[in-house]
Formats: sequence, structure tokens, C-alpha cells
Amino acid sequence: MSEDLKTTLNVYRGAAGEEARYEQFEVPHEEGASVLDALVWVRENQDASLAFRYSCVSANACKECMILVDGKVNYACTAKLNTGTVTVEPLAKKKLIRDLVTDIVPPKERLGSPDAE
Ligand code: FES
Repeated sequence: MSEDLKTTLNVYRGAAGEEARYEQFEVPHEEGASVLDALVWVRENQDASLAFRYSCVSANACKECMILVDGKVNYACTAKLNTGTVTVEPLAKKKLIRDLVTDIVPPKERLGSPDAE
């Protein structure tokens, strides 16, 4: 990524049962970058422990990258990265695993579920 634009990514950190905290990362990016691009940049350049999910990347098929972007449910892979400050948080109504990762598996699809057959 070139350093044409900069965004302060305000990222929810912590695991289930821990006190929530936010960490800020200055992310250089180009016009047209996605929120997922910024998260990948953070993990590759600033903090390899940042937890988030993605799979299909912009095909909008897997839905694994779904998070809150500035308080609204969005796909990180298709959400345009604005300049200024962008806050990313885990889905509010799903069980938190760690950082931006929540348990998104529908109850009927869980192994061991009586409904899973
Ligand atoms: S990574 Fe698959 S929908 Fe975003």
C-alpha cells in the first residue's frame, strides 16, 4: 500500500470475559481500500495477534468478515475505508470469541447440536 491516505483504525480488543479496550492504529492506504485491507495491514505490520475473520474477500459470499464499522453492521471486505477515524467492533448480538471474531455459526449447524442432522 502506498501512503497517500491515512486512517486511524480504532479497534476493539479483548476476549470473552475480559474487559473491553480499544487500540488505535495509523493505517496508510490508497483510495478505494476496504476496512478488511486495513485490518490485514495492521496484522502484517503492527500487531500479528489481531483476530478477525475473512475468507472469500469481496465476493460477498462467506459473510465471515461481518463486523460493526462505525456502529453499523457491515462486511469488512466491501466496506470502503474512510479517512479520519474508523471504529471497528465485533457484532454486538453474537457471542464474542476474541477481538473482532464472534461465534457466527447458526445453532443448527453446530457439531453436537440435536438440530444438526
Ligand atoms: S470475506 Fe467473505 S463476505 Fe467478506
